[in-house]
Amino acid sequence: MRKLNIGLLGLGQIGTGVYSVLRAKHKLYQKELGVSFDLVKVADVRKERQRALRIPAGVFTTDAFEVIRDPKIDVIIELIGGTRVARKVVLEALRHGKHVVTANKALLAEFGDEVFGLAVRRRRMIAFEASVGGGIPVIKALREGLVANRIESIHSIINGTSNYILTRMTQDGLDFQVALKQAQAKGYAEADPTLDVEGIDAAHKLAILVRFAFGGKVRFKDIHCEGISEIRSEDIAFAEEFGYRIKLLAIAKASAAGIEARVQPTLLPKAHILANVNEAFNAVLLRGDEVGDVLFYGRGAGQRPTTSAIISDLTDIAKRMPGRLEDEMILLRGLRARLKVKNISSILSRYYLRFHVIDRPGVLAKISRVLGAHSISISDCVQKETSAGKIVPLILLTHHAHERDVRDAIRLIARLDVIRGKSQVIRIEGN
Ligand SMILES: NC(=O)c1ccc[n+]([C@@H]2O[C@H](COP(=O)([O-])OP(=O)(O)OC[C@H]3O[C@@H](n4cnc5c(N)ncnc54)[C@H](OP(=O)(O)O)[C@@H]3O)[C@@H](O)[C@H]2O)c1
Repeated sequence: MRKLNIGLLGLGQIGTGVYSVLRAKHKLYQKELGVSFDLVKVADVRKERQRALRIPAGVFTTDAFEVIRDPKIDVIIELIGGTRVARKVVLEALRHGKHVVTANKALLAEFGDEVFGLAVRRRRMIAFEASVGGGIPVIKALREGLVANRIESIHSIINGTSNYILTRMTQDGLDFQVALKQAQAKGYAEADPTLDVEGIDAAHKLAILVRFAFGGKVRFKDIHCEGISEIRSEDIAFAEEFGYRIKLLAIAKASAAGIEARVQPTLLPKAHILANVNEAFNAVLLRGDEVGDVLFYGRGAGQRPTTSAIISDLTDIAKRMPGRLEDEMILLRGLRARLKVKNISSILSRYYLRFHVIDRPGVLAKISRVLGAHSISISDCVQKETSAGKIVPLILLTHHAHERDVRDAIRLIARLDVIRGKSQVIRIEGN
């Protein structure tokens, strides 16, 4: 029987789940996985957690570093979150010779070079399945099941909060603010929802996916990031009329000229498989040069799915300890090259453009003249009718155009005397 001595840091939503499952299924995992997961020490700054979880005296502490320094412990599970304390404890754990399991995407996206670099130097494992897509085993698939492939593209829905909000806007016709309040009431969104609705959380996860899919480092700040807070219910309705749904996608594409890596609201044809991923679900669609398209779908957050991924990581570590660490080191060393990320202005895409215009003759001609001068051709167009002189929405879909040209054209169109308010620009994928 293999034995893994565990130190658990952070008993919040996920830490509580991990603690409870490791206790409840201790015997089952011994029998079925052949591993004895022994919780040696557990830390949280909130003392009340000890009583709530009935943690025996001598196992609980409020000092995370006491756990890290314990020589009996083989692996530290970091579930504190954020980057300030978590970075210190993860680096300190590696320096003390511990393997690390973490669900912390912000830490790995922003400080991945430092964390993975130290893991290699100290010859220790760092496992992070729970950091992307919660319970979906996408990291394991990239590292094992798909190794025969060069990954060509990633299209993913990896922020459950935004997906829930967009689902409510689409299915119930709600405005963004009302849908956000519902997400908060259901516990899907934090009181400060910025990380989720502005696309930052998805960009953190995309940075991790890109590293392991394309085999190299990206600077987090090179990932272009747009959220959903500017999406209006009218955009959802117009997209629907044209046969599309709006999703917050995290996209990466490999090419000889560099990689594209961006998080953005996106119009997807209604029949596209990702257009049908609703509520708080996540999905990752990978394209490999041998396998073609592979889809991973499931719960991207929450206590039980995330715990499932963490226990899978613990099992991996138990199976590699102590003899099979070299495989891990070869893999991590191979990921040190810096990948060139293309600037967003150089990408080629189709676009949904929405303007609020004064309803009078010649408006469309004025706008299409500017678009034409920037080599942007229109594939579809709708103008809602009201009485003359009123403000109406005008929606245009374009053929493929360069982002740089689209931005320049929108800047000029904004100055036309027929335009009122801010224009909307959303990229189209999937056809
Ligand atoms: N929640 C999810 O569905 C989910 C899914 C995937 C990944 N994750 C990731 O999992 C990690 C944990 O998330 P969570 O939702 O469980 O967070 P959480 O509920 O905020 O739990 C974190 C716990 O750590 C405690 N803590 C803060 N500083 C500490 C310190 N120095 N030493 C020991 N404990 C400390 C916190 O106490 P205070 O509350 O007093 O600060 C809190 O009890 C994050 O990296 C998150 O991104 C979460």
